[in-house]
Amino acid sequence: MKVIELQNGFGIESLKLTERPIPKVSSGQVLIKMQAASLNYRDLIIINGTLGLKHPLPFIPLSDGVGEVVEVGEGVTRVKTGDRVAGIFFQNWLSGELGEMHPPSSLGGALLYGGALTDTLYGKELPDAQIQSLLGNVLDGVLAEYIVLPEYGVVHVPEHLTNEEAATLPCAAVTSWNAVVTSGGVKAGDTVLVLGTGGASLFALQFAQLSGARVIATSSSDEKIEKLHQLGVLDTINYKKTPDWGNWVQEVTGGVGVDLVVEVGGPGTLNESLRAVRYGGKISFFGSLTGGGGVVNTGAIFLKSLQLQGIYVGSREMFEEMNRAIALHKMRPIVDRVFAFEEIGEALVYEASGAHFGKICIRF
Ligand SMILES: NC(=O)c1ccc[n+]([C@@H]2O[C@H](COP(=O)([O-])OP(=O)(O)OC[C@H]3O[C@@H](n4cnc5c(N)ncnc54)[C@H](OP(=O)(O)O)[C@@H]3O)[C@@H](O)[C@H]2O)c1
Repeated sequence: MKVIELQNGFGIESLKLTERPIPKVSSGQVLIKMQAASLNYRDLIIINGTLGLKHPLPFIPLSDGVGEVVEVGEGVTRVKTGDRVAGIFFQNWLSGELGEMHPPSSLGGALLYGGALTDTLYGKELPDAQIQSLLGNVLDGVLAEYIVLPEYGVVHVPEHLTNEEAATLPCAAVTSWNAVVTSGGVKAGDTVLVLGTGGASLFALQFAQLSGARVIATSSSDEKIEKLHQLGVLDTINYKKTPDWGNWVQEVTGGVGVDLVVEVGGPGTLNESLRAVRYGGKISFFGSLTGGGGVVNTGAIFLKSLQLQGIYVGSREMFEEMNRAIALHKMRPIVDRVFAFEEIGEALVYEASGAHFGKICIRF
């Protein structure tokens, strides 16, 4: 089968189209013939070596994809041959909170990378049950014609979606669902601020609209702002032309501020987000588009009695809840462009350009 691997080092130029044998299924596992994948910003920074890669080289990138189950191992009951499924981002985070992920040994998962892992934040070894189940970083990803996953690590995807649309769900959509709905707790009548028009932000916009909230959005491009208007977003601002957009958000909310900010920028945007949010409001924080460290107005966090909450994708349970909402509302992910499997390099260059509006997909 064809696979795309990072072979001898980092960088888009180090990605190679090559052949591997089709993997064999063991009991409790499913063989999936992949149909589509999608890119996230994280894939770009894993491939260029900025975000620590835990899997040894050679490595198959990308966490998000969808395919058809073509073979099931002994004892599999959750899915059957012919089903269309996506792999979940954290293979072992099925429900509950992040630290409660099920240890692989208790679930028969045979996928895991055997080396000891070091926590990038604190430099200590991580317990098996935690980060060791990340697709497309700790584990090989989905840029292969066939992949094997444990049956507990896949979900059915909504029927009305094309393969490319369904392939956008595991990371970007689940993260934004968690940020807006599960942890964000957005209700009809709330106001939600989303930053930029990348994949995760447009999902946040759609989930906020689905929840009956008013959306305010920023972008660096007037052309993209026009597209935001077409999606029904009335309040928009160009953050390049108005760098102090936090004050503007205060103005358009009558001096109150928004109930929730979906923060994808990091240090370069967080202080404006702290200005834009209302007293007692929430910031769902999950991005690092402007980097990973900086000076933050920590006073605003307690003076405004905010909830500043970190979001790290989400569990299988959140994925399934989100899929029910997407299916019920026939919601369609916003796909900017689809590239062929062999065009992965061009797709990543396009992702790096920031020219996209929504998701970039790969068709197998
Ligand atoms: N923690 C998690 O679980 C998790 C999950 C998913 C994503 N993330 C993170 O979330 C971020 C977004 O990911 P993504 O995959 O959606 O990226 P993406 O699709 O590549 O988004 C790129 C877009 O972000 C916008 N942007 C860039 N710099 C900005 C800034 N200073 N202020 C506001 N918007 C800015 C731009 O929109 P305009 O062109 O409109 O300006 C750009 O086109 C990344 O940092 C990613 O690592 C984290």
